[in-house]
Amino acid sequence: MEGEAVSYLTQREAAEVDEILMGPLGFSVDQLMELAGLSVATAIAEVYKSSEYSRVLAICGPGNNGGDGLVAARHLHHFGYEPFVCYPKRTPKTLYNGLVTQLESLSIPFLSVDDLPQDLTDHFDLIVDAMFGFSFHGQPRPPFDFLIQRLSSLSHANHGPKKSPAIISVDIPSGWHVEEGDIAGEGFKPDMLVSLTAPKLCAKKFVGPHHFLGGRFVPPSIINNFKLQLPKYPGTSMCVRIGKPPTVDIASLRENYISPELDENQVLSDPVAQFYKWFDEAVAAGLREPNAMVLSTCGHEGKPSSRVVLLKGVDKEGFVWYTNYESQKGRELSENPHASLLFYWNPLNRQVRVEGIVERVSREESEKYFHSRPRGSQLGAIASKQSTVVVGRHVLHEAYKELEKTYADGKLIPLPEYWGGYRLKPTRFEFWQGQPSRLHDRLQYSLKVVNGNKEWHIERLSP
Ligand SMILES: Cc1cc2nc3c(=O)[nH]c(=O)nc-3n(C[C@H](O)[C@H](O)[C@H](O)COP(=O)(O)O)c2cc1C
Repeated sequence: MEGEAVSYLTQREAAEVDEILMGPLGFSVDQLMELAGLSVATAIAEVYKSSEYSRVLAICGPGNNGGDGLVAARHLHHFGYEPFVCYPKRTPKTLYNGLVTQLESLSIPFLSVDDLPQDLTDHFDLIVDAMFGFSFHGQPRPPFDFLIQRLSSLSHANHGPKKSPAIISVDIPSGWHVEEGDIAGEGFKPDMLVSLTAPKLCAKKFVGPHHFLGGRFVPPSIINNFKLQLPKYPGTSMCVRIGKPPTVDIASLRENYISPELDENQVLSDPVAQFYKWFDEAVAAGLREPNAMVLSTCGHEGKPSSRVVLLKGVDKEGFVWYTNYESQKGRELSENPHASLLFYWNPLNRQVRVEGIVERVSREESEKYFHSRPRGSQLGAIASKQSTVVVGRHVLHEAYKELEKTYADGKLIPLPEYWGGYRLKPTRFEFWQGQPSRLHDRLQYSLKVVNGNKEWHIERLSP
């Protein structure tokens, strides 16, 4: 959304939007609260990983904003965080009682204001500010005035090497004027603001690194009535970032991997079977394109090159992919058949390296695969003289259109001479699994000849 305009609502408009949603548009307050709380939890999870920021304090006010906080705490629990809730002025209504019961059933601790630790920095990684929403006006009353002060002192204090908890405000930073922002300049400065439905005017004054929009339910009639310009939600996400993501210090990016240990005694003796096992687990984990692999080749000049290709088959004979034989990789493989494949399944903390010798698959095998592809992909393969320079996209489109005409009657599209499969016959595998403190597991399989027979030999490598 960088550079694009985003609409901001006045307090009145925000109230009108809610009235329309809960009036003619048929939403109930419970539904909106559930979606708002879920949006807040997903936005938090997008920025603050539970492995690093697990302890969350949700401070909830008596109204709808507090309800959003209670719902967010429930979702955060299910996302793997450890939420605590401070809900000092409970609203005795079925909806809120239900939310409290749900949290209690998850054994989420409720802390009174007096129970809150002296030093919030020592006890919490994140604080969700769900005290007041857009309908709030006037001066915060006890104990919220005191709680807001505590958050202000957190965001202004210098904690030395200690990292103070990140503050996430739900829709409005509590204590801020809904339209003017932090008028007195004494309020706290949240690190993250999750605007709901559409940002309110005060969000223009937000200077923290993470501004998100949540509440993916705004129907076109509201967008049109209020002439709203809002960013598109990506994929199935319940939240979307507004504005530029903060720049990061690349050197400071660091993940601590936590995985089950990979032991020599657990792995299968056949590396292809072990590969299948991990591949099935990557599929089961819902990874996108788990068959994407980096293929590295090196021609006679000794200059390696890498690119991603898709694995299209694997068995005892090797790993198969399809491409243009006249591409850079094709040329390099004709000069030097040694190549390596690399699979990286990030959410599982796993990589697999496979090295070996590459040969072309049979013409029949390539024919069979080529004709199993959608006709558009078959034509695309012919239209593209892969790895050669083209003066513009239009060249490809024109070539494609010509081919569409040629094969318009649905007749068989012949497999071009220059297109087909390769098979890498492995001579070495390595299964890598990330572990804490960089003490990763690395199990190497190499082919050894024992009594005239080739056998896979498993060894652990130092990380
Ligand atoms: C996810 C992904 C999958 C790809 N799959 C293939 C593939 O199966 N075959 C292929 O020729 N190129 C594939 N490509 C494109 C290649 O990475 C590369 O751009 C192309 O093959 C030309 O490489 P070369 O000039 O090094 O030969 C894929 C790219 C991506 C990002």
